[in-house]
Amino acid sequence: MAKKTKTATVPAASTAPSGGMGIHIGISDKDRAAIAGGLSKLLADTYTLYLTTHNFHWNVTGPMFNTLHLMFMTQYTELWAAVDPVAERIRSLGHPAPGSYAQFGALASIQDAPAVPPKALEMVRILVQGHEAVARTARSLFPLADKAGDEPTADLLTQRLTVHEQTAWMLRSLLEE
Ligand SMILES: [Fe+2]
Repeated sequence: MAKKTKTATVPAASTAPSGGMGIHIGISDKDRAAIAGGLSKLLADTYTLYLTTHNFHWNVTGPMFNTLHLMFMTQYTELWAAVDPVAERIRSLGHPAPGSYAQFGALASIQDAPAVPPKALEMVRILVQGHEAVARTARSLFPLADKAGDEPTADLLTQRLTVHEQTAWMLRSLLEE
């Protein structure tokens, strides 16, 4: 009897995502949209930092070549693997994942890699700033995920924060005398 009222809350097929089925995972439509929006910025930042790190792997020069060439490879491999779970979390929340240079350019908080390859230590400085920026993007979304009871997103953000803060520390250490 009481069940009858439940069916009235299911959105009409024409407006609902996923082939007419609503999404009923215990997070409101508004919160899912806001979290997906925040994750889209994290995806754009992560992808942009991935590409910059791969670029620096190709273009690094100087006496630290071997160390940095290999370190950047470890880092871009990790970043490349990280974009997939972020995009798929956006999909799980019922929203399309951005995946074009135009979208990433509009969403990212970090700049594209410089057109002319910088000196090795300047590359390291740029990557420190990039990892710190991605950490800020992930951290800014945390209160919303927490408030909405979105544990999978909070868990993903925690993992990404751990990686970006640790990588920023390692890169920063290279800049010390
Ligand atoms: Fe390579």
